[in-house]
Amino acid sequence: MDNYSAPANYHPRNNLLQGKTILVTGAGDGIGRAASLCYARHGATVILLGRTADKLEAVYDEIEAAGCPKPALVELDLATATEENCINLASGLAGEFDHLDGILHNASVLGERRPIESAGYAAWEEVMQVNVNAQFLLTRHLLPLLQAAPSASIIFTSSGVGRTGKAYWGAYAVSKFATEGFMQVLASELENTSKIRVNSLNPGATNTSMRRSAYPAEQPDSNPSPDEIMATYLFLMGDDSLGVTGRAFSAQ
Ligand SMILES: NC(=O)c1ccc[n+]([C@@H]2O[C@H](COP(=O)([O-])OP(=O)(O)OC[C@H]3O[C@@H](n4cnc5c(N)ncnc54)[C@H](OP(=O)(O)O)[C@@H]3O)[C@@H](O)[C@H]2O)c1
Repeated sequence: MDNYSAPANYHPRNNLLQGKTILVTGAGDGIGRAASLCYARHGATVILLGRTADKLEAVYDEIEAAGCPKPALVELDLATATEENCINLASGLAGEFDHLDGILHNASVLGERRPIESAGYAAWEEVMQVNVNAQFLLTRHLLPLLQAAPSASIIFTSSGVGRTGKAYWGAYAVSKFATEGFMQVLASELENTSKIRVNSLNPGATNTSMRRSAYPAEQPDSNPSPDEIMATYLFLMGDDSLGVTGRAFSAQ
């Protein structure tokens, strides 16, 4: 699989996302938190979606305190989210915003790190529900709002193990291959008929709680912080990537 990156030394302008409304899933922690703050600082109205209210509220307060556009907050647990929940979310957002300029599908769970021969089905299902099925439901029902934008960007979050399979990464790796497949199918469907671009982005090893639980023996600060990998997140969400679609990007 080809690996694309943002242009070398990419320096987005400060108002890159001014006037844009962007939904970020898993916005309360890790990379999603950093992306939400970064998008807001570049002028976007960010819809913060996640399952833990106090984490989302902390990001909300930080965005407000920085004088950025007032965000919106959506508490939704993607492990239990139904199609009806996603339809209601889409109609609620349509009442508040006349279009959506982007979605960063970022929320994921790691699940079990063990051989397939001893993997549990309940843990497998939860990973597929959060990392794949919920992504489908949100995308499916938010497409009309994205289609109403002058142009829009969907970013799916991938992983190294979603591009080359690796022992003991189980459902997580399989869910990321599915994510790459979903990106390609949707990008191909929308290529000639719509102004929506669709790409995947592998953040690479990043110092977050997911990374620390996957690699407990690793020195956490041997990896960059989420704030340090935002260039490609900005490039793909802003108009500098107009016309770029169907590609697999890496942030590092
Ligand atoms: N960090 C890395 O080295 C790395 C490498 C490759 C790919 N990735 C990918 O990058 C993305 C972000 O990962 P991260 O490292 O920032 O992980 P993280 O720190 O664990 O953050 C994950 C986010 O997803 C949210 N989330 C998890 N389950 C959810 C659910 N059921 N409903 C709603 N939200 C849910 C979490 O919410 P709570 O905080 O409320 O639990 C959290 O905000 C993921 O897609 C991950 O697979 C990360």
